[in-house]
Amino acid sequence: MHPGLSHRASCEKTLHNGVPASTPDGAFLGYLGSCIDITHRHEAEEKLRRIPRLLINAQEAERNRIGQELHDDLGQRVVALSIGISHLAQQMDGNDKLAADCANLQQQASAVITDIARLSRQLRPVTLQRLGLPAALQSLCAKSANPDGVVVTFSQYGELKRVVPWIVSIALYRVAQEALRNALAHSGTDRINIDLHIDRTGLAVMITDRGCGFAVEHTTTTGLGLSGMAERMENIGGILKIDSSPGAGVTVTASVSIPEWEPSWT
Ligand SMILES: Nc1ncnc2c1ncn2[C@@H]1O[C@H](COP(=O)(O)OP(=O)(O)OP(=O)(O)O)[C@@H](O)[C@H]1O
Ligand SMILES: [Mg+2]
Repeated sequence: MHPGLSHRASCEKTLHNGVPASTPDGAFLGYLGSCIDITHRHEAEEKLRRIPRLLINAQEAERNRIGQELHDDLGQRVVALSIGISHLAQQMDGNDKLAADCANLQQQASAVITDIARLSRQLRPVTLQRLGLPAALQSLCAKSANPDGVVVTFSQYGELKRVVPWIVSIALYRVAQEALRNALAHSGTDRINIDLHIDRTGLAVMITDRGCGFAVEHTTTTGLGLSGMAERMENIGGILKIDSSPGAGVTVTASVSIPEWEPSWT
């Protein structure tokens, strides 16, 4: 054996290449060719295929950690600060100017507490982990009620009869989160719908607004939202479709089929 070649007791994957050989008078002699052990290449390709999934899991684990840290540490410290200010305010009898300053500081502290709670829920979607995708999407809509009076509604079509794989539910949830954020930030609409469609082959989430729309093919923004949504869906073998044109609102559809559902769907 050539010293540069490694020896394996058995080849799990091989690549064959051959041509028939015959004598000058046409009698078949056999095949001439090569047989290459491609087990290592196959294993490397498998590992590469798993990388996006590992990256998503690592990213979600890190978001969970930061969300929990925000809630347990920073959030509690600002609560303590707010209590301290309120104690201070009680000692300001007779000093209206300082009492007003304290009230103002306490209002700011309360706003920071609300923001931290919202951010930590966004980073760590506890409802998704505990109650699943339909409940999490419903809760996302309910919590998006905002002072501008935009109505965000959730509708579900079809019933979930099997557990949604975590990698699928987190991808669909993150897409809905970003599409909703975009609709609230850019569309100028007063109504946004999030629809969850369930059938025997898989799931689709549609986020629709009736706002200003945009020219999908010509976006030159440096934003990370649209590319992030597309990447997430690609990584789970799903499809992201964005239908829009200026003046016509936006519909974002994220769909994925779950092959293991079909055999036992009753
Ligand atoms: N629902 C929508 N209505 C109108 N325009 C939209 C909508 N969604 C996206 N766009 C347009 O597409 C652009 C790109 O969106 P994208 O989410 O990638 O970036 P962004 O929201 O600007 O920034 P980021 O998501 O990184 O905070 C937006 O800047 C906006 O012009
Ligand atoms: Mg965005």
